[in-house]
Amino acid sequence: MKVFITRIIPETGLELLRNAGIQYTEHREKRHLSPEELIAACKTHDALLSVGGNKINAAFLQACSHLKVVSLMAVGYDNVDVPAATALKIPIGNTPGVLSNATADTAFLLMLATARKAFYMHKVIGRGEWGFFEPTTNLGIELNGRTLGVLGLGKIGMALAKKCRGAFDMPLIYHNRHRNEEAEQLLGARYVSFEDLLKESDVLSLHAALTPETAGKFDAAAFAQMKPGSIFINTARGAMHNEQDLLAALESKTIWGAGLDVTNPEPMDQNNPLLNMPNVAVLPHIGSATVEARSGMARMAAENIIAGLKGEALPYGVNK
Ligand code: DGY
Repeated sequence: MKVFITRIIPETGLELLRNAGIQYTEHREKRHLSPEELIAACKTHDALLSVGGNKINAAFLQACSHLKVVSLMAVGYDNVDVPAATALKIPIGNTPGVLSNATADTAFLLMLATARKAFYMHKVIGRGEWGFFEPTTNLGIELNGRTLGVLGLGKIGMALAKKCRGAFDMPLIYHNRHRNEEAEQLLGARYVSFEDLLKESDVLSLHAALTPETAGKFDAAAFAQMKPGSIFINTARGAMHNEQDLLAALESKTIWGAGLDVTNPEPMDQNNPLLNMPNVAVLPHIGSATVEARSGMARMAAENIIAGLKGEALPYGVNK
């Protein structure tokens, strides 16, 4: 049995595959595979371990219907046509949970960096512009007691909410498809409508999946309803916000700042004006980029491959 792996992955996953007697081919070049290249590679393999946003759409799945399993080294599966895979009886796996802390840490980092203009100050020093101490310049805002609003309160949102409660005693409001009883009991979270989430959050952090409902949800109309002193954080998917509308909201001081680990599009252009704004912090989609999270993700992705190739149910399966 042979698996095609679209990027270099941590050794934890490769070792598991080798121990299970599974051969693998890694795409080691630092470039995206075209859809045609991905299909051609999969034709000679029994399974796919996919890292990054390869489009696992109906056309791909039909061309590669021989695949016994498609295992994503990611929690998000918005790049996969799951109903098409299910119809073709191809199991899809992902890696939930193991990256929640790392991603929540990234949201927390962006929140604080935005509030204190940290990334911008770093650049100011690099430009040789560290002037003299002035009591009225370089002012950020404090997060103590501010309201954290979460769109999509699952594992990552919960991890962030606990950090924010512990560090800054931040009350929690949230909007979800379903009520989160645990959050309500444990953290006193308050469920609100999407409109109230916009109106009441001091820090609004996105942790929902990218779906037709959340795509483009943060546009000019949404930013217009947010508090003037609020901070927008996106560590979920860049396609949930309109980058031009975000820029306009920041320039007009409709909102106070933004912290992005995901951008729209990715990668962000190096001349994007957001990169020069004091109240903006941007990272290159590194939410899960810790040794711990990535090792765990590689292990889970390999476990899904091993189960799929044996014809067993995936330990972390996505198809319903
Ligand atoms: C995930 O796990 O979904 C990360 O965003 C990587 O795509």
